[in-house]
Amino acid sequence: MACTCVVGLQWGDEAKGKIVDFLTADHHVVVRYNGGANAGHTVVRDGKTYKLSLLPTGILSPHMRAVIGNGVVVNPVRFLEEVHMLRTAGIPVNEQNLAVSDHAHLIFPYHVEEESLGAGAAIGTTGRGIGPCYADKVTRSTGIRVGELLYPDHLRERLRQIVPRKNAILSTLSATAKSFDPDAICDEYLGHAQAIRPFIKDTVRLLHRTLCDKQNILFEAAQGSLLDVDHGTYPYVTSSNSSTAGVWAGSGVPARNLTRVVGVIKAYTTRVGRGPFPTELDDGPDGVGEKIRKTGREYGTVTGRPRRCGWFDAVAVRYTAALGGADELAVMLLDVLSDIDAFQICTAYEVDGERTTDFPGDAFLLEKCKPVYETLSGWKKEIGGARKLADLPNAARKYVDRLAELIGLPVTIVSVGPDREQTILCK
Ligand code: GDP
Ligand code: IMO
Ligand code: MG
Repeated sequence: MACTCVVGLQWGDEAKGKIVDFLTADHHVVVRYNGGANAGHTVVRDGKTYKLSLLPTGILSPHMRAVIGNGVVVNPVRFLEEVHMLRTAGIPVNEQNLAVSDHAHLIFPYHVEEESLGAGAAIGTTGRGIGPCYADKVTRSTGIRVGELLYPDHLRERLRQIVPRKNAILSTLSATAKSFDPDAICDEYLGHAQAIRPFIKDTVRLLHRTLCDKQNILFEAAQGSLLDVDHGTYPYVTSSNSSTAGVWAGSGVPARNLTRVVGVIKAYTTRVGRGPFPTELDDGPDGVGEKIRKTGREYGTVTGRPRRCGWFDAVAVRYTAALGGADELAVMLLDVLSDIDAFQICTAYEVDGERTTDFPGDAFLLEKCKPVYETLSGWKKEIGGARKLADLPNAARKYVDRLAELIGLPVTIVSVGPDREQTILCK
């Protein structure tokens, strides 16, 4: 029995979707354990591009059973939109191959409104109501779980208690804040409940049965480990545990069952939203940062925002690899660097004149860190057709080897393009 976690080791968008899709062949069940429709995972297979936010991308493989774990926050409208989108694309989705945890929390329209009036802009969030929903989960008295959709009277009573409190809070945030009617929300959500009902399951039990049946589970992390609410660049993070730390709490599968952790990294670094980013290349329209953005099509999958681009940061990734217990690395988007003369890799930080290789645990401390770089030469050659390591130019192999050496982990996969075929297995 194998349990694999595919986890991002940077600030998200490392191409986790591609690796999950690649690894489905060896697994039976795929689980999303954190986040919600703030994620945007892309899979390119058979010439078609699929973008999923809430449903695990593993569902694209017909033999896989997909689970949305209890650690996820679910917007039922988005859930039904994605089910519809997949069915329209000819991908079967039914209660046999998709389950959503009865203990996952529900996102309501007042969460989205609260985010737009509150801290959303300061952090640069995706505006999907993620933070306010998780806040209600830990507040307890204001959180509503997916399973409660199945009890209409109970749901109505809870919304009648909660929504007036939400309206009062919203009106203090802005005189023009929307006000919500609990009965209207209840009626709308009961409508969604009819469609979602077959998918709602006790997914903890389901996954424990999966383990007993010796089936292999693939965990699909959303976001990146540097956005983890406990271990990331707080407060510029998301509101869940996006590192492997979230697996146990967000699925009910004990962490000791994890047999393989694949840390996914880009050959460079990107970040969407606000927060410190020591290796950022903010070097104008003719600079390398813009070149990477254009070549890598670095625009947010969910919001379309331009992603901030920069050099690879080995200090940050060494930290997240250790945090997540990564066994190996998948180096993605190597082809994007093909037209660059020379690269920088950040190997240490300088803070107040002192050199350190420790990653600081707070955004305000990371802001003071200046990257110390080493330079490697580029290869200036198109590599999208490479299918084995030997096909790569020497300089590209050297770059990959240096990343492995700096992080202290083997690179087992190198990706040279978005397509499934454009993948090099290193062993
Ligand atoms: P995720 O959120 O980690 O799943 O990553 P995203 O899907 O948000 O962003 C990764 C983007 O890079 C997607 O558009 C992928 O299709 C694309 N991609 C994946 N691997 C490669 C690669 O090796 N080279 C290039 N050029 N693009 C890639
Ligand atoms: P995937 O799974 C990149 C970022 C947002 C913002 C911060 C908090 O595709 O890698 P939130 O809406 O979660 O409260 O926003 O987190 N963010 C992501 N950045 N990839 C993601 O997901 C992200 N999900 C959230 O831009 O900075
Ligand atoms: Mg993404």
